Amino acid sequence: MSDRQTDALGRLWPAYGLNVPDGPVVPVDLPDLFGRRAPVVLEIGSGMGDSTAAMAAADPDRDYLAVEVHTPGIANLLDLVERGGLRNVRVAEGDALSLVSGLPEGVLDAVHVFFPDPWPKTRHHKRRIIQPAHVALLRSRLRSGGTLHCATDWAEYAEAMRETLDADPELVDAYGGFAPRPAHRPVTKFERRAITAGRPVADLIYRRR
Ligand SMILES: C[S@@+](CC[C@H](N)C(=O)[O-])C[C@H]1O[C@@H](n2cnc3c(N)ncnc32)[C@H](O)[C@@H]1O
Repeated sequence: MSDRQTDALGRLWPAYGLNVPDGPVVPVDLPDLFGRRAPVVLEIGSGMGDSTAAMAAADPDRDYLAVEVHTPGIANLLDLVERGGLRNVRVAEGDALSLVSGLPEGVLDAVHVFFPDPWPKTRHHKRRIIQPAHVALLRSRLRSGGTLHCATDWAEYAEAMRETLDADPELVDAYGGFAPRPAHRPVTKFERRAITAGRPVADLIYRRR
Protein backbone atom coordinates (compact mmCIF):
# COMPACT_ATOMS: atom_id res chain seq x y z
CA MET A 1 0.00 0.00 0.00
CA SER A 2 1.13 3.57 -0.56
CA ASP A 3 1.82 5.74 2.49
CA ARG A 4 -1.35 7.63 1.69
CA GLN A 5 -3.43 4.42 1.68
CA THR A 6 -1.83 3.15 4.91
CA ASP A 7 -2.57 6.47 6.58
CA ALA A 8 -6.16 6.55 5.27
CA LEU A 9 -6.83 3.01 6.45
CA GLY A 10 -5.48 3.69 9.95
CA ARG A 11 -7.40 6.92 10.44
CA LEU A 12 -10.68 6.25 8.63
CA TRP A 13 -11.37 2.55 9.22
CA PRO A 14 -12.89 3.08 12.72
CA ALA A 15 -15.46 5.54 11.32
CA TYR A 16 -16.21 4.01 7.91
CA GLY A 17 -15.12 0.37 8.06
CA LEU A 18 -17.08 -2.80 8.70
CA ASN A 19 -15.32 -6.09 9.29
CA VAL A 20 -17.00 -9.15 7.75
CA PRO A 21 -15.72 -12.14 9.71
CA ASP A 22 -15.35 -15.62 8.25
CA GLY A 23 -17.57 -18.16 9.96
CA PRO A 24 -20.99 -17.58 11.51
CA VAL A 25 -23.11 -14.90 9.86
CA VAL A 26 -23.08 -11.55 11.67
CA PRO A 27 -26.26 -9.42 11.33
CA VAL A 28 -25.71 -5.96 9.82
CA ASP A 29 -27.96 -3.04 10.79
CA LEU A 30 -27.80 -0.59 7.87
CA PRO A 31 -29.47 2.45 9.55
CA ASP A 32 -27.06 2.01 12.46
CA LEU A 33 -24.09 1.69 10.09
CA PHE A 34 -24.94 4.85 8.11
CA GLY A 35 -26.53 6.85 10.92
CA ARG A 36 -29.68 7.47 8.89
CA ARG A 37 -32.46 5.68 6.98
CA ALA A 38 -31.86 6.06 3.25
CA PRO A 39 -31.95 3.71 0.25
CA VAL A 40 -28.77 1.60 0.19
CA VAL A 41 -26.72 0.52 -2.82
CA LEU A 42 -24.41 -2.46 -2.34
CA GLU A 43 -21.26 -2.40 -4.47
CA ILE A 44 -19.77 -5.89 -4.67
CA GLY A 45 -16.04 -6.08 -5.38
CA SER A 46 -15.43 -2.33 -5.34
CA GLY A 47 -11.79 -2.72 -6.45
CA MET A 48 -9.92 0.57 -5.99
CA GLY A 49 -13.22 2.27 -5.19
CA ASP A 50 -13.30 4.77 -8.06
CA SER A 51 -16.82 3.77 -9.17
CA THR A 52 -18.19 3.74 -5.63
CA ALA A 53 -16.75 7.14 -4.74
CA ALA A 54 -17.94 8.75 -8.00
CA MET A 55 -21.46 7.31 -7.79
CA ALA A 56 -21.83 8.16 -4.09
CA ALA A 57 -20.71 11.74 -4.75
CA ALA A 58 -23.30 12.08 -7.52
CA ASP A 59 -26.07 10.45 -5.49
CA PRO A 60 -26.03 11.91 -1.95
CA ASP A 61 -29.57 10.79 -1.10
CA ARG A 62 -28.60 7.11 -1.25
CA ASP A 63 -26.03 5.31 0.89
CA TYR A 64 -23.28 3.16 -0.66
CA LEU A 65 -21.93 0.05 1.01
CA ALA A 66 -18.82 -1.27 -0.74
CA VAL A 67 -17.51 -4.76 -0.03
CA GLU A 68 -14.05 -5.87 -1.06
CA VAL A 69 -11.42 -8.41 0.00
CA HIS A 70 -8.40 -6.48 -1.30
CA THR A 71 -7.05 -4.24 1.50
CA PRO A 72 -5.21 -1.68 -0.68
CA GLY A 73 -8.47 -1.13 -2.62
CA ILE A 74 -10.34 -0.59 0.63
CA ALA A 75 -7.70 1.88 1.78
CA ASN A 76 -7.86 3.70 -1.55
CA LEU A 77 -11.65 4.04 -1.29
CA LEU A 78 -11.35 5.39 2.27
CA ASP A 79 -8.91 7.99 0.95
CA LEU A 80 -11.35 8.93 -1.85
CA VAL A 81 -14.17 9.17 0.71
CA GLU A 82 -12.20 11.61 2.81
CA ARG A 83 -10.96 13.65 -0.14
CA GLY A 84 -14.50 13.88 -1.52
CA GLY A 85 -16.03 14.70 1.87
CA LEU A 86 -18.46 11.80 1.33
CA ARG A 87 -20.77 10.95 4.21
CA ASN A 88 -22.78 8.26 2.41
CA VAL A 89 -20.12 5.54 1.98
CA ARG A 90 -19.16 2.64 4.23
CA VAL A 91 -16.59 0.01 3.35
CA ALA A 92 -16.82 -3.65 4.35
CA GLU A 93 -13.76 -5.88 4.30
CA GLY A 94 -14.44 -9.54 3.62
CA ASP A 95 -16.51 -11.86 1.50
CA ALA A 96 -19.50 -10.24 -0.22
CA LEU A 97 -21.73 -13.30 0.20
CA SER A 98 -21.06 -13.45 3.95
CA LEU A 99 -21.93 -9.76 4.24
CA VAL A 100 -25.14 -10.21 2.25
CA SER A 101 -26.14 -13.20 4.38
CA GLY A 102 -26.06 -10.88 7.40
CA LEU A 103 -28.48 -8.36 5.84
CA PRO A 104 -32.24 -8.61 6.41
CA GLU A 105 -34.37 -9.44 3.36
CA GLY A 106 -35.56 -6.59 1.14
CA VAL A 107 -33.30 -3.83 2.55
CA LEU A 108 -31.28 -2.93 -0.55
CA ASP A 109 -32.26 -0.46 -3.24
CA ALA A 110 -29.66 -1.80 -5.68
CA VAL A 111 -26.81 -4.27 -5.98
CA HIS A 112 -23.92 -3.51 -8.32
CA VAL A 113 -21.56 -6.20 -9.56
CA PHE A 114 -19.20 -4.37 -11.91
CA PHE A 115 -16.47 -6.35 -13.68
CA PRO A 116 -16.48 -9.32 -11.31
CA ASP A 117 -13.57 -11.74 -11.68
CA PRO A 118 -14.52 -13.79 -14.78
CA TRP A 119 -12.91 -17.10 -13.73
CA PRO A 120 -12.63 -18.11 -17.41
CA LYS A 121 -11.64 -21.76 -16.93
CA THR A 122 -14.66 -24.06 -16.84
CA ARG A 123 -13.43 -25.81 -13.71
CA HIS A 124 -13.36 -22.41 -11.95
CA HIS A 125 -16.89 -21.30 -12.93
CA LYS A 126 -18.10 -22.39 -9.50
CA ARG A 127 -16.12 -19.46 -8.06
CA ARG A 128 -18.10 -16.90 -10.04
CA ILE A 129 -20.20 -14.48 -8.05
CA ILE A 130 -23.05 -14.63 -10.58
CA GLN A 131 -24.46 -18.16 -10.36
CA PRO A 132 -27.98 -19.29 -9.42
CA ALA A 133 -27.64 -19.72 -5.64
CA HIS A 134 -25.73 -16.45 -5.22
CA VAL A 135 -28.22 -14.57 -7.38
CA ALA A 136 -31.09 -15.92 -5.27
CA LEU A 137 -29.32 -14.63 -2.15
CA LEU A 138 -28.56 -11.19 -3.63
CA ARG A 139 -32.08 -10.81 -5.02
CA SER A 140 -33.64 -11.72 -1.66
CA ARG A 141 -31.97 -8.66 -0.09
CA LEU A 142 -33.37 -6.29 -2.75
CA ARG A 143 -36.62 -4.47 -2.13
CA SER A 144 -39.42 -5.11 -4.59
CA GLY A 145 -38.48 -3.03 -7.67
CA GLY A 146 -34.83 -2.82 -6.58
CA THR A 147 -32.18 -3.42 -9.24
CA LEU A 148 -29.39 -5.92 -9.73
CA HIS A 149 -26.90 -4.38 -12.14
CA CYS A 150 -23.98 -6.41 -13.51
CA ALA A 151 -21.35 -5.36 -16.03
CA THR A 152 -18.66 -7.47 -17.66
CA ASP A 153 -16.31 -7.39 -20.62
CA TRP A 154 -16.08 -11.19 -20.71
CA ALA A 155 -18.51 -12.26 -23.47
CA GLU A 156 -19.02 -15.82 -22.28
CA TYR A 157 -19.63 -14.65 -18.70
CA ALA A 158 -22.10 -12.06 -20.00
CA GLU A 159 -24.10 -14.82 -21.69
CA ALA A 160 -23.92 -17.00 -18.58
CA MET A 161 -25.05 -14.05 -16.43
CA ARG A 162 -27.99 -13.45 -18.72
CA GLU A 163 -29.03 -17.09 -18.63
CA THR A 164 -28.75 -17.17 -14.82
CA LEU A 165 -30.61 -13.90 -14.27
CA ASP A 166 -33.34 -14.82 -16.79
CA ALA A 167 -33.86 -18.12 -14.95
CA ASP A 168 -34.49 -16.46 -11.58
CA PRO A 169 -38.30 -16.35 -11.17
CA GLU A 170 -38.16 -13.26 -8.96
CA LEU A 171 -36.18 -11.11 -11.40
CA VAL A 172 -37.42 -9.18 -14.43
CA ASP A 173 -35.07 -8.06 -17.18
CA ALA A 174 -35.51 -4.26 -17.16
CA TYR A 175 -34.42 -3.91 -20.81
CA GLY A 176 -35.46 -7.18 -22.43
CA GLY A 177 -31.84 -8.03 -23.23
CA PHE A 178 -28.51 -6.38 -22.56
CA ALA A 179 -29.01 -2.85 -21.25
CA PRO A 180 -27.64 0.28 -22.88
CA ARG A 181 -24.57 1.53 -21.01
CA PRO A 182 -25.96 3.67 -18.18
CA ALA A 183 -24.31 7.07 -17.78
CA HIS A 184 -24.22 6.67 -14.00
CA ARG A 185 -21.74 3.77 -14.18
CA PRO A 186 -18.29 5.40 -14.11
CA VAL A 187 -15.55 4.14 -16.44
CA THR A 188 -12.86 2.29 -14.49
CA LYS A 189 -9.56 0.80 -15.60
CA PHE A 190 -11.28 -2.50 -16.37
CA GLU A 191 -13.58 -0.85 -18.88
CA ARG A 192 -10.74 1.25 -20.36
CA ARG A 193 -8.69 -1.94 -20.82
CA ALA A 194 -11.64 -3.67 -22.49
CA ILE A 195 -12.20 -0.73 -24.86
CA THR A 196 -8.50 -0.67 -25.78
CA ALA A 197 -8.56 -4.42 -26.44
CA GLY A 198 -11.77 -4.12 -28.52
CA ARG A 199 -13.89 -6.16 -26.08
CA PRO A 200 -17.50 -4.96 -25.81
CA VAL A 201 -18.85 -4.32 -22.32
CA ALA A 202 -22.24 -5.79 -21.45
CA ASP A 203 -24.58 -4.25 -18.86
CA LEU A 204 -27.36 -6.40 -17.38
CA ILE A 205 -30.02 -4.63 -15.32
CA TYR A 206 -32.77 -6.68 -13.65
CA ARG A 207 -35.47 -5.69 -11.18
CA ARG A 208 -36.86 -7.71 -8.32
CA ARG A 209 -40.58 -8.36 -8.77
C1 LIG B 1 -11.99 -7.26 -11.59
S1 LIG B 1 -12.15 -6.39 -10.11
C2 LIG B 1 -13.34 -5.11 -10.47
C3 LIG B 1 -13.29 -3.95 -9.52
C4 LIG B 1 -14.33 -2.85 -9.71
N1 LIG B 1 -15.69 -3.35 -9.58
C5 LIG B 1 -14.15 -2.11 -11.00
O1 LIG B 1 -15.03 -2.20 -11.88
O2 LIG B 1 -13.14 -1.42 -11.15
C6 LIG B 1 -13.09 -7.54 -9.10
C7 LIG B 1 -12.96 -7.24 -7.63
O3 LIG B 1 -13.83 -8.11 -6.88
C8 LIG B 1 -13.19 -8.44 -5.66
N2 LIG B 1 -13.80 -9.66 -5.14
C9 LIG B 1 -13.73 -10.89 -5.68
N3 LIG B 1 -14.43 -11.78 -4.96
C10 LIG B 1 -14.96 -11.09 -3.91
C11 LIG B 1 -15.79 -11.45 -2.81
N4 LIG B 1 -16.20 -12.72 -2.64
N5 LIG B 1 -16.16 -10.50 -1.93
C12 LIG B 1 -15.73 -9.22 -2.11
N6 LIG B 1 -14.95 -8.81 -3.14
C13 LIG B 1 -14.57 -9.73 -4.03
C14 LIG B 1 -11.72 -8.57 -6.05
O4 LIG B 1 -10.86 -8.41 -4.94
C15 LIG B 1 -11.56 -7.45 -7.07
O5 LIG B 1 -11.12 -6.25 -6.49
